[in-house]
This record gives sequence, C-alpha cells and structure tokens, in this order.
Amino acid sequence: MSSNLRLTKKHFTSEPFLAILYTVKTKDLLGLKELSAEEIHEILDVAAEMKQLLLSGHKKSTRLTGKNISHAFYESSTRTAVSFDEAAKILGAVSCGLSVGNSSASKGENLMDTAKTLDAMKFDAIVIRHQSAGAPHFIAKHVGASVINAGDGRNEHPTQALLDMLTIKERFGRLDGLKIAIVGDVKNSRVARSNIYGLSKMGAEIRVACPDTLLFSGSNKMEQNYNVKFFTDAKDAVRDADVVMALRLQLERMKGGLIPSIAEYHALYGVDDKLLTHAKKNVLVMHPGPVNRGVELSSSVMDGDRSLISNQVTSGVAVRMAVLTLLTEKKGEVHA
Ligand code: CP
Repeated sequence: MSSNLRLTKKHFTSEPFLAILYTVKTKDLLGLKELSAEEIHEILDVAAEMKQLLLSGHKKSTRLTGKNISHAFYESSTRTAVSFDEAAKILGAVSCGLSVGNSSASKGENLMDTAKTLDAMKFDAIVIRHQSAGAPHFIAKHVGASVINAGDGRNEHPTQALLDMLTIKERFGRLDGLKIAIVGDVKNSRVARSNIYGLSKMGAEIRVACPDTLLFSGSNKMEQNYNVKFFTDAKDAVRDADVVMALRLQLERMKGGLIPSIAEYHALYGVDDKLLTHAKKNVLVMHPGPVNRGVELSSSVMDGDRSLISNQVTSGVAVRMAVLTLLTEKKGEVHA
C-alpha cells in the first residue's frame, strides 16, 4: 500500500496534522486476527508519523480536542495504561482512568453495566484490559464508544503487536521476509497470538520456541493458517533470526508444575549471549515487558546494544496515538 500520509516540513513547524485515508473503518480495535494487512499498514504508517512528532519534541496537539477517552484496566499495567493516557493527552483529548479497585465493580457491578455506565457518559473510546478473553468483544457489541482491547486474558494484545511491528519496521525498513523468533510462555501470551497474526499478515516468518507444557492447543491449526512454526528447542527457532522476541513467564496465570524450575527454564529458554550466537550476526532483541530479569533475558542482553526494549516503549505511545486518532476522529475528515 502506498503511504497516504503527506507530512511536510511545515507540519512540524506549525500544527502537525496528518492526512489520513481511513482504511481502518471498524468501530473498535479488538484484535489483529480481525484486521486486514491494509489496515495494519495504515496504522503503522500513521504511528510512524506520530513517532516522528514525539521524537521531535512535539507533544501538544489539538487533533483530538473535544474527544474523551476512558481507560478501564481490570489487570495491572504500566506501559499500556500510561501510554494510552499519555497518547490521549498529547492529542488534546480528555483522558479518564477508571480505578477498577475503587470502582463499583468492587460492589458487585458487572462488566457490562460498568461499560454501559461509561458509554452513558458519552466517551468516544473505552480502552479496556480484562482477565477474561473476549471481554472487549462482548462490550463492543453493546456500547456506542469505540472499544480498544488493551489485553484480554490469553487472547490478544493488538496494540502491543502493532508497537512491536512499528519498532521492527523502523530498523529494517520492512517486515516482509524477516525471520522473527518468539521464545517463551506462548500458552499464556496474548502478545504471542497478536504478533503471530500481525507479523504473518505482514509477510514475516515466525518461529516459536517453548516447552511442550507452555504451548497452546491449536498450534497445528495456526501453522496451517499463518506463517508460523513451533519448536521445543530454542536454538531451532532462533537460527538465522533477524529478531528474537522473549516473552514474559506469566507465573500468575500458571496453575503450577508447567516448568521444572525457573533456573532450568532460563537454561533452556532464556535469551542470552549464547543462544543469540545461533541468530543472525546483527540480531535485535525485544520483550513486551515487564521483564523477569535473569529469567527470560539475561541482564547483558537486556541492557546491551541489541535490545530494543526502550524503543518499544516509545513506539507504544505512537501506536496508541495512531489508534486513538483512527478510531475516534470523524471518518473522512482530512487535515491538510
Ligand atoms: N507489555 C505490556 O502490556 O506491559 P504492561 O502490562 O506494563 O502494560
């Protein structure tokens, strides 16, 4: 897809508004399984421009003035919650966080009634993270606001995969043809699922490594439908990889007994300098965060030159700026 963005130097010196084609026509962003390659391209194009603005120090816009965004996080978050809030504020929107622990959910109000309450306050978008897979999809059918999935159980985390793709694309200039290894707790990972859907649609080749006990059911079907292969030996997945993405060991979602010990897990699946000798010489390393330091990543890799972790966090603000803009701005409105 050719870029529909026409950002010139003058946009950086005055009000930096992008012209957007609005290929993304859906009301909600629920997952990358539902998005087309064209829609992903558009989000990444807009996010790339947003990131340039951020890096150039332009952090005040009126693009979404008059819009209001609610954030309802039923699970803990640092990166996603703060970056959605920051993105909304940079764009001039009103950003309201629902403190779930202090909300009426603690008095027994169910999710749908909470969502309808927020909708009655006329929010333009509701950003939701919930421990139950499908919760954002459920409420999206019943509210007028755009619903943005900020992570639903083990299902999807679409804005994380988008920010990962933006970060990779910036470094390589493309996604198609790249070999991306994903190593870790796939069974519990919504990040893995969204990245498999998204990266595969963008033409990348994905190799996943995890112990059998941390593999999800349906991996065979996924191999048939997406450009992904599953391995139990991390060396096989990492071989000739351009990027190695480590996943957090989600101990809070494990019932126990899935790994023999943390030390053994690190020895077999920890991304360290030794494992990276099997990858391409200039391999880059990613992690969605938060990291269990010394478990999924050795400190030398996490803090080293090959790590893109801080860059991923910056991309997160840009991607969320793009998603909020695309979903809440009046469709068809083009800023010159
Ligand atoms: N990657 C991610 O979702 O991080 P947070 O849990 O801090 O939002």
